[in-house]
Amino acid sequence: NRPRIAVVGSLNMDLVVSTERMPRVGETISGKTIHYIPGGKGANQAVGCARLGAEVHMIGAVGDDMFGSVLMTNMKDNGVCTDGIGIIEHTPTGIASILHTSEDNCIVIIPGANGAMTPARVEQSARFIAQADLVLIQLEIPLESVYAALRIARSAGVRTVLNPAPARDLSADLLQLADCITPNETEFASLGGFMETDGQDAWQDGLSNWEKRHDHKVILTRGKHGASYRNNGQPVTIPAPVVAAVDSTGAGDCLNAAFGFGLASGWSIEQSLKFAVKAASLSVTKFGAQAGMPTIEEIERMDI
Ligand code: RIB
Ligand code: NA
Repeated sequence: NRPRIAVVGSLNMDLVVSTERMPRVGETISGKTIHYIPGGKGANQAVGCARLGAEVHMIGAVGDDMFGSVLMTNMKDNGVCTDGIGIIEHTPTGIASILHTSEDNCIVIIPGANGAMTPARVEQSARFIAQADLVLIQLEIPLESVYAALRIARSAGVRTVLNPAPARDLSADLLQLADCITPNETEFASLGGFMETDGQDAWQDGLSNWEKRHDHKVILTRGKHGASYRNNGQPVTIPAPVVAAVDSTGAGDCLNAAFGFGLASGWSIEQSLKFAVKAASLSVTKFGAQAGMPTIEEIERMDI
């Protein structure tokens, strides 16, 4: 039986401009290509889970424009259930303007319909959350809606993974509703988890203090260094395999999708995270946030 996952979050059309290097502020450079590709952290995580074989219900919103219908079709093509996706009138679909080099990206988001994803809309799709084995949530929708989703899940006894990306201030009230959070180092620092300036291992104390304070699990994602967490009180790092990077856009989404898939399948945190780190490494080898989402077979074939 396939694990059932609800994803509450954003759908964006990504406008990806690829360049050799990032421009400096005030500088004009010539880029290589532009691509219009489906993205948005919510949609990316939904596609990531579906590609691994989960039954996925996406809860989100698009505008009543051309990009909106492209994103809807893309969800369906990927086998994601779209019954929880609203089409909001007189509102543009969310856009992500992305500058991409093989190593890095810089992203500007125009929320559009994602910003109109109200708690009432989440409530309308409450059944998808309540019937799921696990819920994945990110921060590209209004925080009241994140809160609503976490609350529905908590009262239905459904496990939640909150990916606090992009970084935003979160109240202790909201945080305590999440069973697990998955920040990267910058996001964890901006949540007040640790000081990035405090040296290499500062995150270790950061994790233990945070877990005591908020009574949930932290998975710290660390890019090419893999991911770290605390296992029976001990800091553990799952190293990432070395890969030839093409595009890191969506690597975090891939990690969350695969981690959530593992948990929803009943695997341990350790097993789920090892699987997720491999998945994310594979995703970096392909261009585009969703194109790089691997299948289970591709992950298992990876011998590290
Ligand atoms: O995490 C990657 C995503 O962030 C992109 O697809 C873009 O839409 C932004 O939301
Ligand atoms: Na990629």
